[in-house]
Amino acid sequence: MAVLEIRKYPDEVLKKKALPVENIDRSLQRLIDDMIETMYAAPGIGLAAPQVGISKRLIVIDVSLGEEKNSLIVLINPEIMDTEGIADSDEGCLSVPGYNSTIKRAEKVTVKGLDRNGKPVQIEGDEMLARALQHEIDHLDGILFVDRMSSIKKEFFKKKYLKKSAVCSQESAVRR
Ligand code: NI
Repeated sequence: MAVLEIRKYPDEVLKKKALPVENIDRSLQRLIDDMIETMYAAPGIGLAAPQVGISKRLIVIDVSLGEEKNSLIVLINPEIMDTEGIADSDEGCLSVPGYNSTIKRAEKVTVKGLDRNGKPVQIEGDEMLARALQHEIDHLDGILFVDRMSSIKKEFFKKKYLKKSAVCSQESAVRR
């Protein structure tokens, strides 16, 4: 297993609509294991394949951050089947480090997909799990949480965030 590099905004791969997984083979199993390790190492509660540069419909989630044995979810080709309610909550993303915002999402979701062995599964989530499922599935459609902010807020984010990351990369270039 390996910790993969997490792509950061405004990387182009994060804006692409990912393609469905067609073969559940050994290389996909390796990718799943690497994504799980990368998520725990970050640490984060979810990771979508485009975040490691692979434009495929695959997500991993563990809202317990590895604390509870049965809370790890691997979903191939996930689809939201049903939603209920609306909730506001603070959200962040491993691809947009150092930035958080309140995002409106469905309170509960029902998602179907395949597990890592290709078996059809259906997952119902509320609270943090519902939010994580929606956030990660958004990644597969090239949508980041900042895309769900108001346009004024997003413009402000773009100016401020890109300026800040330019300064950071200059600083690290100097250090090297
Ligand atoms: Ni994210």
